[in-house]
Amino acid sequence: MIDRLAVNPLLRVLANQRETIPPIWLMRQAGRYLPEYRAIRSQVNDFLDLCLNAKWAADITLQPVHRFGFDAAILFSDILMVPYALGQHLTFIEGEGPRLNALNDLAGLKRLRREIDDEKLAPVYEAIARVRQDLSPAVALLGFCGAPWTVATYMVAGCGTADQLPARLFAYRHPEAFTQLIDVLVEASVHYLVRQFDAGVDAVQIFDTWAGVLPADEFRRWCIMPTARLIAKVRAQVPRARIIGFPRGGGTELGRYLDGVAVNVVGLDWTVELDFARDHVQTRVPIQGNLDPVVLLSGGAALDCAIDSILEAFLPRPFIFNLGHGVLPDTPISHVERMINRVRKIPACG
Ligand code: CP3
Repeated sequence: MIDRLAVNPLLRVLANQRETIPPIWLMRQAGRYLPEYRAIRSQVNDFLDLCLNAKWAADITLQPVHRFGFDAAILFSDILMVPYALGQHLTFIEGEGPRLNALNDLAGLKRLRREIDDEKLAPVYEAIARVRQDLSPAVALLGFCGAPWTVATYMVAGCGTADQLPARLFAYRHPEAFTQLIDVLVEASVHYLVRQFDAGVDAVQIFDTWAGVLPADEFRRWCIMPTARLIAKVRAQVPRARIIGFPRGGGTELGRYLDGVAVNVVGLDWTVELDFARDHVQTRVPIQGNLDPVVLLSGGAALDCAIDSILEAFLPRPFIFNLGHGVLPDTPISHVERMINRVRKIPACG
């Protein structure tokens, strides 16, 4: 048995240890900015078909690790696999995004399964097992799910929206029905994450991409409390589960998020001010983040300067280098390489 902590920097940070060179991975590190991803992507119309093909999903998961030597691989899949496994119709339209049959009334809620159909997710679990086999013990394998609130916003609207208005309206107009939907999502996500741990992930990230659109009380009700329950229930079945929370836009409510939600690491979006994060967040829990994806797209002196500020603020305590949200599709590969070298203090050649 290899001592994974001895060889794996990301697992050490999850265990609250500090690294001199921080581990690094990026949200959406597998995706359209990579030519090797686009080569596989062009073979299917619907992105969902990639997620449902265990070999492709495993290969794509490994692509950025092979190319850049990241410290973590994140399972290539999507947060909308949960509604898919609850029986909601799902397709992805190229260049537009996901389409579901909008669940905007009580009848729609009744048609939803109460539990995940695990057969539909079998390729996801198989992809995890495949990646695990091929991955060096020095690289962490991350699973994930969407937080109940963020997943619900897509289920209610049937697509991505600028302001999550359909779900916010539904939650105000039909609080009991919305509670039922959130409860179904908590249970489904517990099951999904436990199965991901069984299949071989080292840790999971809970993406609450749309946490920031809610007033503080609603944030507590629909983000903090359901995520707290989700985590407690996962830990009841997998006591050593390591969990990264990503409440994007949590802002001034981050302290309350940490009061309620027992994460091992909190992911910060790019708007969180560095001194605030260092003094009020990193004193409580290791942090992950939070380079602006737009500065990575930009490159140049602005990129170098932003990286240095983050390292200066966060290196003294346990820290995982990441973006504040996903890699943008037009990001040049050379900018990613430049960023990794700067974080790892590898001198530029040529
Ligand atoms: O981080 C990773 O590399 C792992 C893979 C991953 C994807 N989606 C792949 C994907 C992860 C962790 C997600 C999570 C996800 N999916 C979130 C939460 C995090 C975030 O980015 O906000 C959300 C809100 C979704 C829902 C979703 N999936 C949308 C709104 C879209 C369309 C917009 C877009 O970026 O294309 C997707 C599609 C999607 N998920 C793609 C990828 C690589 C692009 C599909 C394609 O290649 O056509």
